[in-house]
Amino acid sequence: MFASDRAALSGSTAAVPQFENERPRETDDALLAAVGHTPLLPLCRISRGGGFELYAKAEFLNPSGSVKDRAALAIVRRALAEGRLSGGRVLLDASSGNTAVAYAMLGARLGFPVELCVPRNANPDRVARMRAFGARIVFTDPAEGSDGAQREARRLADADPEHRFYPDQYNHPGNPGAHYATTGPEIWEGLHGRLTHFVAGVGTGGTISGSGRFLKEKDPRIRVIGVEPTGPIHGIEGLKHLPTALRPSTYDARVVDETIRIETEEASEVRASLAELEGLAVGLSSGAAVAAALRVGRAHPGAVIATILPDSGHLAPEARP
Ligand SMILES: Cc1ncc(COP(=O)(O)O)c(C=O)c1O
Repeated sequence: MFASDRAALSGSTAAVPQFENERPRETDDALLAAVGHTPLLPLCRISRGGGFELYAKAEFLNPSGSVKDRAALAIVRRALAEGRLSGGRVLLDASSGNTAVAYAMLGARLGFPVELCVPRNANPDRVARMRAFGARIVFTDPAEGSDGAQREARRLADADPEHRFYPDQYNHPGNPGAHYATTGPEIWEGLHGRLTHFVAGVGTGGTISGSGRFLKEKDPRIRVIGVEPTGPIHGIEGLKHLPTALRPSTYDARVVDETIRIETEEASEVRASLAELEGLAVGLSSGAAVAAALRVGRAHPGAVIATILPDSGHLAPEARP
C-alpha cells in the first residue's frame, strides 16, 4: 500500500511518514519499539518444592532473538545522535554472536553498513542471520574466543578510523546503561519490589551491572549474583570466564556480590529441563543462569529470584531423537 492510499483510508497524512521515506527512523520505528519489555515468566515446575520463587526474563523474544538487542539499540541510538554513522561510515564491533546479529539487524533496518568480528566457531545459525542482514563478517581464531574478536576489531578500527566507527560493546557505557534504563526497572516493576536475588550470566557484564545497579538503588538488600563458566575453555556461548579473559569495563565488580561458576554439562542438563518442564527452548547460557538460580534458591528459603534467559536454543546433537 502506498502512503497516499493509507492516508486516504485513515483520513490523515500524519501517521504514514515511513512509506514516503527510504528507511524508518530509529526514534519511532515499531520494530525497534519491540526491543525490551519482555515477559517475566514464573518457572514453577523447575523450582517445585524448593521453597523459593523463581522468575525469568524471556529475552529470546526480542526482535533479533536475544537480550543483546537492548545494548545494541542503545549504542546505535547514541551513535546516530552523535552523527558517527553518517556518510556511509561502517559500524564495526566484536561479538561472540548475539550482539553481532543485533547490530546486523539494526544496520539493515536503519540503513548503515555493519562489519563484525566473530570467532570462527560462532553458532552457525547466528552467522547465517548476520549474513542475511547483509553484514560483513571477519572470522577470528576460535581458540581466542571473544577476546580475539575484540583484538581484531581494534586493529581494523585503528587501520581506518575515518571509515569505521568502533563503539566497543565491551567498554561502552550505553551497554550497562540500556539495562539500567530498561531491564532493571522491568524486573523491579514485574515483581512489585519483592525481589531478593538477581542472577545473570556475565559476558560483557552489561546485563548484570546495569540491571544490578538499578535494583540495588531500589533496595540495597538485593543480592546480585554473576554466572560464569568454570574455566577458560567452555561451551557456554555468550559467557566469559573473567579471571582469564580481557576484563570488560562494562562489568562493574562493585555491583556483583557473588559469582557462581557452572560447568557446561550442568548448563546443558538444566537447559533440557527448561524445555521439558517449562516449554522453553533456550540457549546454554540460559541453562547456566537457571542452574545458578536454583542453587541460590535452595540455599535461601523464601527467596524471590529473578534471572535472564538471554537467547533461544538451537537443536544440539544431544537433543535430537
Ligand atoms: C547467549 C548470551 N548469554 C549471556 C550473555 C551475557 O550478557 P552480557 O554481555 O550483558 O553480560 C550474552 C552476551 O553476549 C549472550 O550472548
